[in-house]
Amino acid sequence: MTHNPTLSTTDPEIAALIRKEEHRQRDCVRLIASENYVSRAVLEATGSVLTNKYSEGYAKKRYYQGQEYIDAVEELACARVAKLFGAEHVNVQPYSGSPANLAVYLAFAKPGDTIMGLGLPAGGHLTHGWSVSITGKFFKSVAYGVRRETGRIDLDEVRSLALEHRPKLMFCGATAYPRTIDFLAFRAIADEAGAILVADIAHIAGLVAAGVHPTPVGLADVVTTTTHKTFRGPRGGMIMCKAAHASAIDRAVFPGLQGGPHNHTTAAIAVAAKEASTPEFKRYAAAVVENAKALGEALVERGFSLVTGGTDNHLLLVDMTPKSLAGKPYAQALERAGIVCNYNSIPFDPRKPFDPSGVRLGTPAITSRGLGIPEVVQIARWMDDVAAGIEDVAKLARIKGEVRELLGSFPAPGILA
Ligand SMILES: Cc1ncc(COP(=O)(O)O)c(C=O)c1O
Repeated sequence: MTHNPTLSTTDPEIAALIRKEEHRQRDCVRLIASENYVSRAVLEATGSVLTNKYSEGYAKKRYYQGQEYIDAVEELACARVAKLFGAEHVNVQPYSGSPANLAVYLAFAKPGDTIMGLGLPAGGHLTHGWSVSITGKFFKSVAYGVRRETGRIDLDEVRSLALEHRPKLMFCGATAYPRTIDFLAFRAIADEAGAILVADIAHIAGLVAAGVHPTPVGLADVVTTTTHKTFRGPRGGMIMCKAAHASAIDRAVFPGLQGGPHNHTTAAIAVAAKEASTPEFKRYAAAVVENAKALGEALVERGFSLVTGGTDNHLLLVDMTPKSLAGKPYAQALERAGIVCNYNSIPFDPRKPFDPSGVRLGTPAITSRGLGIPEVVQIARWMDDVAAGIEDVAKLARIKGEVRELLGSFPAPGILA
């Protein structure tokens, strides 16, 4: 055995599965709104020896020796993110978006306290107080929703619930909401109700960084995010907050919730923040939104129905009812045609969450490959073709071939072959 056997020597089974997944990502149109392609540079940092190091604590205040380079990496990551978003304080240690949100609960609330968030069926995230999540079990959760007629967040309801229940924490931000979040309005309501305002920008962080979605930084008391969606970094989480909350947040993340930070992820977040501060990334984020709008328009022209009628951001929520289809069988047929999305509940969905009425689409990944409006319109054509016959195996196979051929001209970041 050599000293440094490669993955394919040590574990050909896993190596082959990774290779297959790489090819799958190369050969299909990836429309899952929370996914992306990271750069080779982000992949390299993620796969680095930084994974070998324990560094509980924060820069210059660690519980283990040997932190010379780790401290520099974490300080660079925090400084870059702070500059990019204009944040007073940044913590890059949360393992992902859900732990980032849990740290906020730990910093500011006690079990049994009242919290508010957008309900899951209206597009909110589990960790904003939904019943099956620890956040819905340990806290008294009050959910606000969207208006039945417009699909948009009902700010009148948010205000009246906030004044009635006086929550400790009020979450804004979403997982399946295609419109701009009005952070200013949430700030005013939180002030009136005496709540700490938390903006969860997990989905839109890249759009916020690029200035194509309004920023909550400076408005919300705390901003949480994942780093792996529109931000195009490694899987991870971050918390930004006002200086006054810095020590409460830091203590909640470590030692409150976590042990050693994932230093390889921290390095990759630093790389992603550097990439996100370039003019090229600004163009990318603008193109993500343009592509989403174009995809929405092309679908509407073909008889699809969009929740809220369109989009302001990177995602679309499609109600498949007018096509006489449910979301799940449609998403499964799309996958057979080389187009991958997720089935999703729509607001006031009469169907069950595991077999809902809609699908959720997003343009972050395809835009990272350079697909533009002509290609997006072609995707809408294929989607319409699939909807017209989800059982037509020959047709689905033909479309899958066409998809692969089109994508051959758009190399995916981070994928060499
Ligand atoms: C708004 C929002 N917050 C938090 C999360 C949780 O992130 P993670 O899956 O990294 O725990 C998500 C993930 O989809 C999300 O959409």
